[in-house]
Amino acid sequence: MIQVKVKVFRSNPEQPQNKPHFDEFMVEADPKDKVLDLLHRIKWEKDGTLAFRRSCAHGICGSCAMKINGANMLACEANLKNFKDPTRITIEPLQSLPIIKDLVVDQTDFFKKYDIVKPYLINRTPPPTRERLQSPQQRQVIDEATWCILCASCTTSCPSNWKNPNFLGPAALLKSYRYNFDSRDEGIAERINVLDTNNGVWRCHTIFNCVEACPKDINITWHISQLKKKLVSREY
Ligand code: SF4
Ligand code: FES
Repeated sequence: MIQVKVKVFRSNPEQPQNKPHFDEFMVEADPKDKVLDLLHRIKWEKDGTLAFRRSCAHGICGSCAMKINGANMLACEANLKNFKDPTRITIEPLQSLPIIKDLVVDQTDFFKKYDIVKPYLINRTPPPTRERLQSPQQRQVIDEATWCILCASCTTSCPSNWKNPNFLGPAALLKSYRYNFDSRDEGIAERINVLDTNNGVWRCHTIFNCVEACPKDINITWHISQLKKKLVSREY
C-alpha cells in the first residue's frame, strides 16, 4: 500500500463566502487503484461533502471526466501506476464549463452544441420493410466516430473553445461527422448552416489537444478535417 497526497479543487458558488481553494487529503491506496477509488475513499471516509460525478466506473458512461495532474481524463480509468509520481495527485474540474460544486460542472452548454448538429439519422426516404441496410465497408467509415462516450474531455481541453465559447467544439463536430458520413443519412443540407461557419469546422485550428484528451483514442482532428474536405468539395 502507498500513501497518496490528493489535492482536490473545492468550490461552491452557492456559498460565495467560501472562496474556491484546494483541500488536501492523505489517502492509503493500492498502487493499482484508480483515481476514482481515491475520490470514493475521501467521500466515504473523510469528507462526505465532496461532490463529483461517476456512474459506471468502467469507462463507459463518460460522467467522471475531470482534470487530473493537469490533463483531462476519466477518473475511473486513471490508474495510479501510470502516473510519474503516484503519491501526489491533483484533481480539478473540467475547464471552461461553469462549476456547480467541486468537481461537478454544468454540461448544459456542451449538450446544447451537441443538439445543434442534429445528432441523429435524417432520411426522408420511406423506410424499407426491414432495416435500412449498410455494408461493412460503409459502417467502417463511421466506426471510430461511434466510440464517443460524450465525456466532454475534448471540448473542454480545446483552446479554440476556451477563446470562443460559441465554437461548436470537437465533440459536436465529431458527432456531426458520424451522421454526415453515414451511408443512410441524407441530412447534411440541414446541418450545413452551423458547420460551414466561423464557429463550426473552420474554428478548429488543428491543435490536437482534443486527440490527446480523448479516453477512447479517437482521432477527432482527422474526422473534423474530413468534414472540412466535404464542405470544400461540395460532395454532398
Ligand atoms: S470524442 Fe473522446 S474526448 Fe470527446 S466527448 Fe467523445 S469520448 Fe470524450
Ligand atoms: S464512471 Fe463512467 S466513465 Fe468513469
